[in-house]
Amino acid sequence: MEAIINILPETDCILEGDCRTLLRRFPTEHFSACITDPPYNYEFIGRTWNEDEITRRLERIQNSKTLVKNIPYGSGLAGGVRNERWYARNRENIEQYQKWCKEWADELFRTLRPGAYVMVFNSTRTIAHVQVALEDAGFYARDILVWRRHSGIPKGLNFSDKMGKLGDEKAASRWTGWHSCLRNEWEAICLLQKPLLNNYIETIKKSDVGLLHAEDGFGFASNIIDGIGRSLDDKTSEHCTVKPLDLMRYLIRLVVPQSHDHIVLDPFAGTGTTCVAAHEYGVGYVGIDINQRYCEIARERLMVIGQVPTQKALF
Ligand SMILES: C[S@@+](CC[C@H](N)C(=O)[O-])C[C@H]1O[C@@H](n2cnc3c(N)ncnc32)[C@H](O)[C@@H]1O
Repeated sequence: MEAIINILPETDCILEGDCRTLLRRFPTEHFSACITDPPYNYEFIGRTWNEDEITRRLERIQNSKTLVKNIPYGSGLAGGVRNERWYARNRENIEQYQKWCKEWADELFRTLRPGAYVMVFNSTRTIAHVQVALEDAGFYARDILVWRRHSGIPKGLNFSDKMGKLGDEKAASRWTGWHSCLRNEWEAICLLQKPLLNNYIETIKKSDVGLLHAEDGFGFASNIIDGIGRSLDDKTSEHCTVKPLDLMRYLIRLVVPQSHDHIVLDPFAGTGTTCVAAHEYGVGYVGIDINQRYCEIARERLMVIGQVPTQKALF
């Protein structure tokens, strides 16, 4: 275990590397919030989350109408014979995933201020495991937000079609309208909080975070986020899971007061959407990503909006 170096690191930087290691370098109670979108599946973490692997998988399933193009095996959506081995592999996969989440959540817990919020995106199928991993690290679960994307082409099996293709007209007619899944219209964001210092008053005095900016002139914010989609400044061609900038703007505003004293962390920054939104809003940011190319894209995006991120934190 590397020693924690307690010299104040630079903010407004995009760091390349594994967040489980890099987070150790940050001081205790340093960040005001963490808003992040980790890989949704264990198979895509670390070694396998790279461009070659993504390209290989995309090519393999190019002509498939049913497979989700950028979601790997093990996600429960990628087909396969549903035998005992398949379920065992999925089970093992999700257990590994939860263990991995706990590893980064432990460091995250230490580096956040008391009362700070954590928002983690995940699939509706795996969000419960992420929440439990973060609770095991010490966070207190507050909510699960629904981000309604309004897309969601049905991706499962149309049983009637399948039976028709196999020549079983009777079964095709009997099962008309029956599918293997629902239309997936929303993404989950689990909302957790580092425990308060006795109460909100003491926490706010020390940390300046802990509340939700629920009322901002447009009614009282709901835990269903509707009507926020892609805009022209999104970099969807650069990465297969880029989040809308407007959504990240909204989430940051919800949990962090607008002051230069605050730093938002995104340990799975990808193309830097959270960091761009944080900078625009007027708070500091630290983005971490294991992929060199994504770090470059994030830095380029920040430079376009007039911010020059440092290559490395100065520890
Ligand atoms: C779902 S993407 C985030 C995309 C981001 N929301 C955006 O708008 O571009 C997850 C990112 O986590 C990164 N990643 C995976 N494992 C990591 C690790 N151990 N430490 C840091 N980053 C990691 C991947 O390279 C990937 O870019």
